[in-house]
Amino acid sequence: MIYMDNAATTIHKPEEVRAAVMAAFDTMGNAGRGASVPALDASRIIYGTREKLARLFHAGDPRRIVFTANSTESLNIALKGLFSRGDHVITTVLEHNSVLRPLYECRENGVELTILGCDGKGRISCEEMEAAIQADTKAVVCTHASNLTGNMIELERVGAMAKRHGLLFVVDASQTAGVWPIDVEKMQIDVLCFTGHKSLLGPQGTGGMYVREGVYIRPLLSGGSGIDTYNEKHPAEMPTALEAGTLNGHGIAGLGAALSWIEKTGMDRIRQRELSLMRRFYNGVFRIPGVTVYGDLETEKRAPVVSLNILDYDSSEVSDELSTVYGIVTRPGAHCAPLMHRALGTVEQGTVRFSFSFFNTEEEVDLAIEAVRECSCTVRKQATENKR
Ligand code: ALA
Repeated sequence: MIYMDNAATTIHKPEEVRAAVMAAFDTMGNAGRGASVPALDASRIIYGTREKLARLFHAGDPRRIVFTANSTESLNIALKGLFSRGDHVITTVLEHNSVLRPLYECRENGVELTILGCDGKGRISCEEMEAAIQADTKAVVCTHASNLTGNMIELERVGAMAKRHGLLFVVDASQTAGVWPIDVEKMQIDVLCFTGHKSLLGPQGTGGMYVREGVYIRPLLSGGSGIDTYNEKHPAEMPTALEAGTLNGHGIAGLGAALSWIEKTGMDRIRQRELSLMRRFYNGVFRIPGVTVYGDLETEKRAPVVSLNILDYDSSEVSDELSTVYGIVTRPGAHCAPLMHRALGTVEQGTVRFSFSFFNTEEEVDLAIEAVRECSCTVRKQATENKR
């Protein structure tokens, strides 16, 4: 199998990740529940992972890192816990449903939403974003990179603009955490939502958020916390305020090992490799007759993703062919980014998305290029026959 669906989840994890999860099964108690050796072991591993995430995102205090199950959970906590009736929020057409659907729910509850459009290549304009700010605007919510096109939003620029206008800045880093540097101080990010199972190379069911000191989020859940048992209210101190119940300690142990591997390997090296594989693939496919590639491929600053179509053929059929004949795994169809599909005109057809990881090889990329070339030949032949 040639796995090229790394934007959905990475399958190839560093060996240390599996080892850490297996070791946790043997040793891990419940963090913060008593002072037994297994409970302390869990607390140590979980706090260690918080420290590594705080280092990765330049967050300073590890207690500002909250663990969740994935970006979707983080975004639900953030968006539903930050906004109230009468607030105005700006977001973009690049967003995934994990941003859009919670925001639509907020809208049903009286939050006003402005959704910024994009150009033909799926890029937004920071000037248009600034022009959309109103007196009652509370926040800008945006992704760091589109999961469909790989186009990125300049966080430093948007963060500076948000601060100039006294707005909160909430970022979905699902497609970039672990690949592109994210500095919550420099980028002036108030809430950063991330998942553990994609380019952070951790297990599924891990994720989290950074919440800037002074930013209050109404908790979505309350319950067991291991502290302050006789208080009717869930503890207000971070990170416990946003972490009710037992954490996914086994997964967090794996995520901790993945973060150590990323630190050791170097994020710059990881990114350069992924982008070079993406570039090699793009250069190999974009001139193939019948192939349309979506997004801005001119810039180096993008996520390692290439979405394409062959003529007007259904993306699921192309993806099936790639899988059954060539063993290449891609994601077809709609990519949970409805507004981006609408903007690109791919609502009916979807797109075939190739997304790369550090563990892909040049040989795999070359095979994928040849597979696209052959698929395109077949599709064009069929199209000609259909016309006769
Ligand atoms: N959000 C993930 C993707 O883009 C699942 O495939």
